[in-house]
Amino acid sequence: MEAGETRFWEAIRQDFPTLAQQVHGHPLIYFDNAATSQKPKVVINTLSNFYEHDNSNVHRGLHELSNRATAAFEGARQRLASYLGAPPDTIVFTRGTTESINLVARAWGDANVGKGDVILLTEMEHHSNLVPWQLLAGRKAAILRFVPITPEGRLDLEKLDTLLEGPVKIFAFAHISNTLGTINPVADLCSRARRIGAVTLVDAAQSAGHKPLDVREIGCDFLALSGHKMCGPTGAGVLYGRRELLESMEPFHGGGEMISSVALTQSEFKAPPHRFEAGTPAIAQSIGLGCAANYLDEIGRQRIFEHDQELAFHACSVIEQIPGAKIFGPRDTRAGVVSFVLGSIHAHDVVSMADQYGLALRGGHHCTQPLLRKLGVPATARASFYFYNTPEEVIRMGEVLRKIHAFFA
Ligand SMILES: Cc1ncc(COP(=O)(O)O)c(C=O)c1O
Repeated sequence: MEAGETRFWEAIRQDFPTLAQQVHGHPLIYFDNAATSQKPKVVINTLSNFYEHDNSNVHRGLHELSNRATAAFEGARQRLASYLGAPPDTIVFTRGTTESINLVARAWGDANVGKGDVILLTEMEHHSNLVPWQLLAGRKAAILRFVPITPEGRLDLEKLDTLLEGPVKIFAFAHISNTLGTINPVADLCSRARRIGAVTLVDAAQSAGHKPLDVREIGCDFLALSGHKMCGPTGAGVLYGRRELLESMEPFHGGGEMISSVALTQSEFKAPPHRFEAGTPAIAQSIGLGCAANYLDEIGRQRIFEHDQELAFHACSVIEQIPGAKIFGPRDTRAGVVSFVLGSIHAHDVVSMADQYGLALRGGHHCTQPLLRKLGVPATARASFYFYNTPEEVIRMGEVLRKIHAFFA
């Protein structure tokens, strides 16, 4: 990394108070960013400012605080819209990717998927983009199909046209695999699905904070993201939906805020996106997410992507020097997620011991049990990077992993 670039990232790192701590007597190395990212001061301050000065419920007040809260909340919607290249009324605030996908599976799926219809997924999906479709398939007697993965950990796209034959109603897939680091060619997948009239959903949980994302360029019908993985607070996420589809959909949850009028036996509903936001939303968190989107754009998402990728390549070269190490996922183009095993040492042992050196990894199935079965391992250790991580931390990870290997050997 060039000196100027190194200084730039060092300065950015100062924005993250959590990173400046010792864990078990060692400087914290936080490599669990695929699970959740750390939060910059500007996002933390946005939350505390909201609670200190503007705290009020949105939409229903005619007083100053409520007006301020509403303006900030709707401002965050506009910010997320421009972040995704979408009109504001196509941005539904949810609790995160999981809730966004469940919303589509219920509100769109129940009305559009029937007996014998096909729901196309891939073998690398997170449980969040698998279980809601299993439930839908169960309710409707629909059929689940899966795009297989190649031994290298990419989607086997030669099989895609055959899999898209017949009554395929929806094709839902991850943009970036949280286990393999594979970056899927989302625009191509969407255009191939569109040719046969299937609706598409992109699970952008791992990409939204890590690379440029524009729903017009991707050409998807739905896109789901989680704020907490992109420097935002927990409890706030987004569902983008193409306007015509959102307008055609019945509500997901019923309650306050999503209605235009209510009688004792029936109700009329607001237009999207408010139709899908029943009850008090995650106001402060959504405002915090808007702030996080600003923060990421100020750094530059392409720059973030290149930094993550560089750390991932560096990590692969460090890990593969350890005897018995096996890395999963593509070796050329990949995102900042590296899953590996160290011979027969259980991933939980690797991760627990790494923690004693202040190194936060994740070990387990990463909510992708079917994928791990396919890979033939019960669990992997996973290092996942973000822009505040450094090459020195990757080198330190190599030292710690060598110690762990030596201990078990
Ligand atoms: C690819 C992918 N999809 C979905 C999710 C679920 O995200 P959340 O738990 O924020 O809803 C995750 C979380 O790790 C993920 O990595």
